[in-house]
Parts: sequence; structure tokens; C-alpha cells
Amino acid sequence: MDSMTSFETRIPDYVERVEHALASRLPAADTAPAALHDAMRYAILGGGKRIRPLLCYATGEALDIDPEDLDDAACAVEMVHGFSLVHDDLPAMDDDDLRRGKPTVHKAYGTATAILAGDALQTLAFNVLADGRNSSACRISMVRTLAQATGSLGMTGGQVLDLEAEGKQIDLPALEELDHRKTGCLIRAAVMLACDALPGLDAGVRHRLDDFALQMGLAFQIRDDLLDVEGETATLGKTSGADAAHAKSTWPSLLGIDTARQRADTAYAQAMQSLQPLGQAADGLRFMAQYIVQRSY
Ligand code: IPE
Ligand code: IPE
Ligand code: MG
Ligand code: MG
Ligand code: MG
Repeated sequence: MDSMTSFETRIPDYVERVEHALASRLPAADTAPAALHDAMRYAILGGGKRIRPLLCYATGEALDIDPEDLDDAACAVEMVHGFSLVHDDLPAMDDDDLRRGKPTVHKAYGTATAILAGDALQTLAFNVLADGRNSSACRISMVRTLAQATGSLGMTGGQVLDLEAEGKQIDLPALEELDHRKTGCLIRAAVMLACDALPGLDAGVRHRLDDFALQMGLAFQIRDDLLDVEGETATLGKTSGADAAHAKSTWPSLLGIDTARQRADTAYAQAMQSLQPLGQAADGLRFMAQYIVQRSY
């Protein structure tokens, strides 16, 4: 990839690419059962920063992978992320009314349809990987990577830890574990799915990218927690102050804003260290890392 132009200038093209890829992989809104498919499209299309697909494509640039070989992975991780948001917002979980500047799926379609749309998005993600254009060995690795990131030892388990920690004073290792699972695992999957698309990838490079993603997953959730305190609902597209209202265990609530910022900066610095031997090819990942710790929504 042309290192003379920055990753930042390519972001609009990658976003358009994944919007189109997602739209074409989701069932049409008038396919029966129409209410379900309409809710799935509402949950996924026309909103969201697309950070996980962008991390996948940026990893592809670092490894010189054709973006076409990453479209299925980028869509699959965004579908699982979308499913996780639909369920995260449910009355039984964070009980939120606003997501991506619009009413949450259960507000727009009812709770039952929201639960089922989440279920169907999750299975569609794995179907997309299984039917993808990568070799069968790559596809099996991708299915495993995404399943482990999503399941009881990954995001789903992390969501349980998050709910169990409401109203409690948990310690720092427990908070890091919670964040690692509920958010870090899918951020990591975005990077590792691109690694899976390259058969024979050097184990040392894979390990470095894995460590980069691990650090950035933590930094991502710390930034999300800070924005819940410092951001405005209109900018965030979701209700600010929702964490305090639910007595969530977050970085600002347990350790204060300054400590939270410092921990995100430390994670960012470690992530940069991990990328160091990858040279200029990893500039896209460097840009994404900076964006993740500095973003305002
Ligand atoms: C929000 O993720 C949920 C968390 C894991 C903290 P994003 O901030 O990536 O949400 P969208 O996709 O841009 O809406
Ligand atoms: C969400 O964390 C994590 C997942 C959806 C897996 P949050 O509950 O902090 O996300 P927001 O703030 O509602 O987007
Ligand atoms: Mg939550
Ligand atoms: Mg939430
Ligand atoms: Mg949050």
C-alpha cells in the first residue's frame, strides 16, 4: 500500500467498502420475516464508526493483504459487534434508549424482535465467514477466532462480569479482566481475523499484532468509559452518564478520570512498542490507535 498517502485519507473508502459489503450480506428488508430483517438492517446499517472493520483493513495493510480477502472478516466482526450492542441496550442489560443517534432496536421494534435480531446477526456473521472467499483452512481459523472472541470466555462472558460488577467495588485486575473480555476480545478479533487470512504468517509478527490489539482493546474501553462521563449525548449518539446511573464499574468510577487517562496512555504506549518492528507498513494501525485514545465519540 502506498505509504506516501496516509491511512486517514483512505478511511472514507474503507468505510464505504464495508457499508456496501454489509448491505449486500444482510437479507433484504422485505424478505420474510420482514420485521426481523428490517431490524437487523436497522441495527447494522447507517451508523457506527466501523472501528473493528477499519482495524481489520489496517492490519491487512500491515501484512500486504488484498482488502477483498478481508471483506468477509470485516463484515463478520461488525455483525457480532452490532449484535452485542443490540443485546447490551436491552432493558435486562444496560436499558438504553439511544444508540448511534437513533432509538435502540428494542425501542424501535420491541424487545422480542431485538433479542431475535441479535441472535440472527450472530449466526449470520459465522455464515458470512464460512461462505467467504478465503481458503477453507483460513475460514476455519477465522470461525474459531471469532467464536472464541464472542463466546462465554470472550465478549459474552465479559458482559456477565459487567452486570455482576454493577454497584460493587471491584479491584483493578478484575476491572481489566472485565474490559478485556467484554470489549477487548472483539477488538482483538478484528486484528486476528486479518492474520488468519494470511496462511504462513510469521508467528512473531502475529504475536506482536495480538499484543497490539490486546492493549488497544483496553484503551478503547477506557476511552468509552471516559466519554460516558465527559461527552454529550448529542455527540456520542448514546446517553451520556448512563454508567453512573447504573452504578457500573468503570475506570472513572473506580479509579478516577486521571488514573483512567494514564492507564489508556500506558496501553497506547505498549501498543506502539509492539508495532515497532513492523515499520511503516503498520502506520494504518498507528493511526487507528491514536484515533481510539483521542476520539470524541
Ligand atoms: C461501543 O463501541 C461499545 C463498546 C464496546 C464500548 P463503538 O464505540 O465502536 O460503537 P459504534 O460501532 O461506533 O457505534
Ligand atoms: C459494551 O460496553 C460492550 C459490549 C457491547 C460487548 P458498554 O455498555 O460500555 O457500551 P456502550 O457504552 O453501551 O456503547
Ligand atoms: Mg454494557
Ligand atoms: Mg451499554
Ligand atoms: Mg460504555
